[in-house]
Amino acid sequence: MTARHFLDLKDFSLSELRTILDLAHALKTRLKAGERPRLLQDKVLAMIFERQSTRTRVSFDVGMRQLGGETLMLTGQEMQLAREETIEDTARVMSRYVDAIMIRILSHDDLLDLAGASSVPVINGLTRRSHPCQVMADIMTFEEHSGSLEGKKVAWIGDSNNVLASWVHATALFGNRLAIACPKEYWPDQGLLSDIADVGDRVTLGSDPVEAISDADLVITDTWVSMGDTDEGERRRILKPYRVDTRLFSHAATDALFMHCLPAHRGDEVTDEVIDGPQSVVFDEAENRLHIQKAILCWAFGIENLEAIKE
Ligand code: CP
Ligand code: NVA
Repeated sequence: MTARHFLDLKDFSLSELRTILDLAHALKTRLKAGERPRLLQDKVLAMIFERQSTRTRVSFDVGMRQLGGETLMLTGQEMQLAREETIEDTARVMSRYVDAIMIRILSHDDLLDLAGASSVPVINGLTRRSHPCQVMADIMTFEEHSGSLEGKKVAWIGDSNNVLASWVHATALFGNRLAIACPKEYWPDQGLLSDIADVGDRVTLGSDPVEAISDADLVITDTWVSMGDTDEGERRRILKPYRVDTRLFSHAATDALFMHCLPAHRGDEVTDEVIDGPQSVVFDEAENRLHIQKAILCWAFGIENLEAIKE
């Protein structure tokens, strides 16, 4: 059997993602009841970080420990990767030592090359192109607060980045609508435009934040300067009209949720009033990274059904 990689939401069917979400909801319930089923006893997850992380790093690490497994934390800089060992050779060697690899690396092509050469599951912990673990946690959070995403309107306000790309991929499967408001200067690249076109008319792309947010059930924004972006001053100037403040948020549905993958740049893409307001669920969203990572890890190791998590 080939290894079960978790690279992009567009690689999955709805039922596969549903399986992972159901596992995550169940694992969360069990954890709150004080149960920590040791489903991944003695498994070792290697975590390679080319860039900074708080949530991804800690949630995978703690998630593995709660499941009875262990982690190895590595940075690209301290590995021979930094001295030009190929990503494929790195994958072949690591596959002989560990049971799974989670990697945060800017180059999506490098992620795919790593997965192509790895005989153990590889999980995408963020690339410049996508952030699928984050959007699975977002969907889990929406389901907890507002029920099914199907037919709901999601508004994405600001930069067109990796988190948006994974939201586009999710929209293809979950039956929601996605209204994107993004300045022309930071319009999605050709690859993402083609993914948007694949979804059809449930995704709209424009530059008017009020139009996108109107009657939305879920409002999402993210940093204006993603890891790997260089033109910070220019971005902050061009994206300023896309700040989610109380005036803009007032156009959303009265019970709309606000999400942000964090870290937030308060006063830039979102004001304190919105991110700390009663409709913000950003810390539930951050917590759910833990539960969804555990579910993704279980799925990668072939654990799919709820029966398997009964002690
Ligand atoms: N949202 C997210 O991926 O956070 P970190 O960069 O802290 O991992
Ligand atoms: N879009 C952001 C997400 C950080 C979790 C970035 O790539 O830096």
